[in-house]
Amino acid sequence: MRTYLAIFGATGNLMYKKLLPAIAALQSNNLLDLETKILCIGRANHTLESYIETAKTQIHSPINWDKLSPILEYFRMEFDQVDSYNNLKTYMNGNGDSKRLFYLAVAPELFPIIAEGISSVQLITKNDAFGRIVFEKPFGEDLKTAKAINTMLWKYFDESQIYRVDHYLGKEMIQNILVMRFANKLFENNWNSLAIEKVTIIAKETEGVMNRGNYYDHVGALKDMIQSHLLQMAALIAMEVPKSFDVDGIREEKVKVLKQIKVDHKAVITGQYNGYLSEKNIQLNSKTETAVFMKVYFETPRWKGVPFIFLTGKKFNEKRSEIIIDFEDNTVQESLWPNQEIVKNQLVIRVAPDEGVTFRMNVKEHGLSNMIQKVEMDYCHDCNVVGNKPEAYERLLLDFIRGNSTLFTRWDEIEAAWKIIDSIKNHVIEPVIYQDFEGFLAIVNSIIKEETL
Ligand code: BG6
Repeated sequence: MRTYLAIFGATGNLMYKKLLPAIAALQSNNLLDLETKILCIGRANHTLESYIETAKTQIHSPINWDKLSPILEYFRMEFDQVDSYNNLKTYMNGNGDSKRLFYLAVAPELFPIIAEGISSVQLITKNDAFGRIVFEKPFGEDLKTAKAINTMLWKYFDESQIYRVDHYLGKEMIQNILVMRFANKLFENNWNSLAIEKVTIIAKETEGVMNRGNYYDHVGALKDMIQSHLLQMAALIAMEVPKSFDVDGIREEKVKVLKQIKVDHKAVITGQYNGYLSEKNIQLNSKTETAVFMKVYFETPRWKGVPFIFLTGKKFNEKRSEIIIDFEDNTVQESLWPNQEIVKNQLVIRVAPDEGVTFRMNVKEHGLSNMIQKVEMDYCHDCNVVGNKPEAYERLLLDFIRGNSTLFTRWDEIEAAWKIIDSIKNHVIEPVIYQDFEGFLAIVNSIIKEETL
């Protein structure tokens, strides 16, 4: 049976920046079934030719248009009119039987409208094995609104048909976390509070809100980054060994550990970059945060007393996402080498931009000296890759098309994450103004009065 992937929001940012380049890469690498068609759905009045011409002006990454264009179709419709869905159905049926996959790359207020539309004309029916639907975050603004969206979704679709995207889960090094942890005895045996002093999860960005002021000003960094990406990374680091690596084995353990988070409310600091208020579509005197520092603890036997620090922000000094595991110091052994510095081991999982792992350790200096020196062992994950290095969205789209939901979030993970964010939002926090990363860090350190990073 052929695959029909229909994407609502085909003229939006996400489509041009991520989805079309990912589809193009999958197609170039012959990973899509021969009869796959991509139905680009938008409200703009395009022919397929004019849509492709517009897309070419919006997409800056190299794309093999000769291979991509033949699988694209364009369909214009109003998302809030029932008739449009009848027309869509007639159009899709006209192309014969197919697996029907829907991607909602649209603003969240359109989720219920589109979900109702496609289900009212039975483009997807509940429990239909060939119908799936995928949503982009944000899944609500808080637990209450997220629950409302979810109840709506469950009215039309079975949980197994719903795919919720957190694109960090499609990143290579995030998928690597569980392999590193469980396939290496060295780490597996030391992945606990006896050996680990602190875990720091960082997602720094150089850009500001750009043209997303409308969305961002209602959301802020806590909901935009911590609720999703950083909590997902933390869950993978902190979870217990899953019974299996199948879809629910991993999600089960992530949910369990997310429910054990305790936020250190005294150590939640938010910031807003200087100049944010003059960006487009930002409300006068907006108090939306563009950076967050926070400390949490997982109240499980494995992690008792180990702080997990989250740090994310826009307009910082560099674009970098990484997870830093600081091991305890080795004081017992220090007596063997008096007056020498023995560094603490540190494991850095580099998520982006240069994917890989760094391990800091002590070795003897070369030659006749008995001095100790600290060295770094570096593993570069993408250095030896020949050809295409799949982007997160390539992996996620392929999994969605093939029906594998392991790298998508389940409702109860989202629910647990919202509970955490709601608990913070209830302690009103006003953002401090920062100039740059160093400035934000200095503010953080002066408020919580300890060297944190
Ligand atoms: C998105 C956020 O989910 O993640 C953006 O909405 C953020 O605000 C982006 O810029 C960061 O993703 P990445 O993959 O560039 O680190």
